[in-house]
Amino acid sequence: MDGFLGTRGSFMLDFVFAAMLATVPLLVVSRYLVRRASYQMHRRMQMALSVILFVAIIGFELEMRIYGWRQRAVDSPFWMDGAMNDWIDGSLILHLCFAIPTPFLWGFVLYQAMRKFPKPPGPSDHSASHRFWGRIAMLALTLTAVTGVVFYWLAFAAAG
Ligand code: HEM
Repeated sequence: MDGFLGTRGSFMLDFVFAAMLATVPLLVVSRYLVRRASYQMHRRMQMALSVILFVAIIGFELEMRIYGWRQRAVDSPFWMDGAMNDWIDGSLILHLCFAIPTPFLWGFVLYQAMRKFPKPPGPSDHSASHRFWGRIAMLALTLTAVTGVVFYWLAFAAAG
């Protein structure tokens, strides 16, 4: 099914692209909430974001396994038949370096936070570890989003 962004992207490609773009400012807001000691809002926001990203990943993976993406990228000026060293494949490999480990890291931070913080959430013995891994998880998700946007543009948006 065609997407809604007016590019060559499918519905799920566009959905994940839009979700990734929205994620980065949401992470900034979520950190700001912690700074203002609004821990409950931070918790809700991180859990909502996790559910949305989880649904997006499942839908996206199913679509990619069934239909693939290459037939939508052949009209890109960066497409090279049979090549694996062009910009499109290079950007995809870089994107996957972040996209594959990030959900595991994210799930680990979320699970530990839900298990170890008091209810309602607030500073505790778990704070130092959570701040450390939470920052790494947010950085990893941001890099997943940025590299994903570059791949999307090269494969599905660029026209020439
Ligand atoms: C994957 C999901 C999550 C990520 C990536 C994340 C990330 C972060 C980060 C980066 C900070 C430190 C902000 C800063 O000062 O720089 C933080 C603080 C905090 N988070 Fe999360 N968080 C997540 C989920 C949760 C959940 C589910 C809870 C509650 C159950 C929670 C409770 C807290 C609390 C209480 C703090 C303040 C810790 C302190 O400074 O004492 N977080 N989080």
